[in-house]
Amino acid sequence: MEKNGKLYGVGVGPGDPELITVKAVRVIKAADIIFTAASTKNTYSLAVEIASPYISPAARIEMLSFPMTKDEKETETAWISNAKQIADVLKTGKTAVFLTLGDPTTYSTFGYILKKMACVMPDADIETIPGITSFHAVSARLNRILVEGEESLLVTSGAYGGNQLRHINGIENVAIVKAYKNIKDINDALKETDLHKNSVAVSKCGRKNEQITRDINSLEQKAPDYWTLILASK
Ligand SMILES: C[S@@+](CC[C@H](N)C(=O)[O-])C[C@H]1O[C@@H](n2cnc3c(N)ncnc32)[C@H](O)[C@@H]1O
Repeated sequence: MEKNGKLYGVGVGPGDPELITVKAVRVIKAADIIFTAASTKNTYSLAVEIASPYISPAARIEMLSFPMTKDEKETETAWISNAKQIADVLKTGKTAVFLTLGDPTTYSTFGYILKKMACVMPDADIETIPGITSFHAVSARLNRILVEGEESLLVTSGAYGGNQLRHINGIENVAIVKAYKNIKDINDALKETDLHKNSVAVSKCGRKNEQITRDINSLEQKAPDYWTLILASK
């Protein structure tokens, strides 16, 4: 019987094609199949574009669709089906890579893959290759220290506004990903928690059309791009 193949969850970094690790490059080069997430509306993948110089011409690229819906049944069905597709490949002895932007363990579709692989193929051989996160890329871009001494850093999502900030005490630094909607509420929460003055938003860090906004109030005039992150500190 053929030995099962291995799945690698690979982070390709935040968008600057030079911010991919040597290990990620080695693993991508050796892959038989490259998987990545695509929304049902769009098949373009920046993660594949970043990895493309290293993908073997013999490798197959497959987009796994992750529906952007709150319908739990629909998402559950899609995630299970994606995991089964990967499991089928592993059962043929092939090496598969699942590409993600940034780091695969940080707000990533790879999280769903890991959970569902545990259901459909509990003995699958899986290795996660870390990537440079968006907030590390942004702090580096700004030459701004993310956290130091005895301070803490909260990494949170702004998708539903600033409520997460209102529930914390004594945090000196925050990184808010998905800061593209509910920006007024995020700003209000930053003001309430005394984090507003030293805040900056960066959109598409390291990519074409990168934008740095130091007056984050101005983001309320025009909703920022999905690829926007806010760093704030006391
Ligand atoms: C689904 S999360 C993915 C996070 C990613 N896995 C990471 O390690 O940073 C998407 C959010 O990450 C942030 N993000 C990712 N890449 C970015 C970039 N190049 N510039 C600014 N923000 C970015 C944005 O806040 C975006 O809404």
